[in-house]
Amino acid sequence: MPRAKILYQCQSCGYASPKWLGKCPDCGQWNSFSEEKRVTSLKSQSAAEPVALKDISASQGRRSSTDIKELDRTLGGGVVMGSVVLIGGDPGIGKSTLILQSMKGLARLGTVLYVSGEESPEQVKIRADRLHIHCGEIILLPETSLEGILAAARKIAPQVIVIDSIQTIFSLELPSAPGSVGQIRECATKLMFFAKKQGIPLFIIGHVTKEGAIAGPKVLEHIVDTVLYFEGDKGNPFRILRAVKNRFGSTNEIGVFEMQESGLMEVENPSQLFLSERPENVPGSVVTVSLEGTRPLLVEIQALVTTSSFGVPRRTALGVDYNRINLLIAVLDKRLGMHLGAMDIFVNVVGGLRIDEPAIDMGIIAAIVSSFRNQAIDREVFTFGEVGLSGELRAVSQASIRINEAVKLGFRKGIVPFSNSTASDGMHIDISGVKNVEEAVELLMF
Ligand SMILES: Nc1ncnc2c1ncn2[C@@H]1O[C@H](COP(=O)(O)OP(=O)(O)O)[C@@H](O)[C@H]1O
Ligand SMILES: [Mg+2]
Repeated sequence: MPRAKILYQCQSCGYASPKWLGKCPDCGQWNSFSEEKRVTSLKSQSAAEPVALKDISASQGRRSSTDIKELDRTLGGGVVMGSVVLIGGDPGIGKSTLILQSMKGLARLGTVLYVSGEESPEQVKIRADRLHIHCGEIILLPETSLEGILAAARKIAPQVIVIDSIQTIFSLELPSAPGSVGQIRECATKLMFFAKKQGIPLFIIGHVTKEGAIAGPKVLEHIVDTVLYFEGDKGNPFRILRAVKNRFGSTNEIGVFEMQESGLMEVENPSQLFLSERPENVPGSVVTVSLEGTRPLLVEIQALVTTSSFGVPRRTALGVDYNRINLLIAVLDKRLGMHLGAMDIFVNVVGGLRIDEPAIDMGIIAAIVSSFRNQAIDREVFTFGEVGLSGELRAVSQASIRINEAVKLGFRKGIVPFSNSTASDGMHIDISGVKNVEEAVELLMF
C-alpha cells in the first residue's frame, strides 16, 4: 500500500521539511512553505530484467521532424519518440504559438492530443485560425485534472501529447493547489511514465516567473529529457529558443524566430538580421563571430565608455558575462595602458542575444577601445579571438566556419588570432593574424 505522509515544501525551490518553516533554509524565500502530501510507494514499479548493452536496439531513438527547422535543430534533429520536452519561458513569449505551429508537422505521426488547461477551446481556435492551422489530427482537451487527462489519453491513444501548461494541471490525489511544487512534480512524472510506456513524445509547457510565486519549471528540469527555453524581449519581435538540457543532442544549439501576426517565422539567416540596423561610422560598435552549436552567428557588440560621475564606476554587461568584462577591462588597463578606472562602461550584445563564448573577447575589447578613443571601426571589418590575461590572442575553434560566414555577408577584412589566420585559405577576404591585443587594436584603429 502506498504510504501517505504530510510534509511541508518550499514553493519556490522544492525544499521539503517535516515542520512548517517561515524561511526556506535552501533558497532563503520567506513564507513559501505549504502543506503537501507525499505518496511513497513501497512496492517497486516494475521488475526490470538486466539486458546486455549490445542486445539493445536503438529503435527508440527514432526522430520525427516538426517541420519547423529551427525547432528541429534545437531538439538535436527532430523530436525523439518517447522523449519528454519541457518548453519554458515568460508568459506571453510565444510558447503556445510555437507548439501549435509544430503540431502541424507532428500530426503526420497520428493524433495529437493538445491539453489546454489555460485557454478555452475558442481561444485556441482563434489562434489556430490566425496561424492557418486546420488539421483534423489535432484533438483539443480542455481538462486540468491529471486523472482526466490520462483517461482521455488511454481512450484516444494519441501519437503526441502536449500539456499547456503544467502549472494548471493537478492530481486529485494531492491536497495542494495546482502549480505547487508537489503537484507539478507528481503530474509531470505520471505523464512521463505514460509517454515513455507508449513511446510517444510529450511536450510540457511551463511558465517561469521571477518571483517564484508559481513553482517554475526548474523543479522539472531533472525529470525531463530536453529543456528548451524561449527567450526574448517583449518589445522586440525576435525570439530565441535555446536548449538548456538535452539527452539527445547538443545544448549549444539555438533557434531564432520572429513573432508576426501569422505566428512565429523562422529566421534562416540570423547574422543578417542582427546586423541589419547597424549604425554607420559610430564609435563603440564592432562585429564579431560567435558559434552557437554548429551555426556561426555574426553579432554586433556595442560599448559605451563615459566619465563616471560617482566614486565607484559602473560596469554593465548585457548579453555577456559581467566577470569577463571586468577581466578584459583589467587587460586593457595593464597591456594597453588605458586608464578606465574612472569610467562607466556599458557593454551590450545587439538583438537581445546572450553569448557565453570567449571567442567574442576580442570584439568586446575592440568596442570598448573604439568608444574610449571615440574612433569608429570600419564597418566592413570583423574580429574574433579569445583574450588571455597577458593580452595574448588565443585561437578559437572552427575558425574557417566563422570566417566563411563573414565572407557571405560581405565583410572585407578580418582581424583574427595568428594561429587561426590560415583558416581563410581559398576565401576571398583579407585576413590578418595577430598575436596580441596591442597588434589587433593597432590594425582595427589605424
Ligand atoms: N493578433 C496578433 N498579432 C500579432 N501577434 C500576436 C497576436 N496575438 C498574439 N500575438 C503574439 O503572441 C504572443 C502570445 O503568444 P502565446 O503563444 O500565447 O504565449 P505563451 O503561450 O508563451 O504565453 C503575444 O505576446 C504576442 O506577441
Ligand atoms: Mg500559452
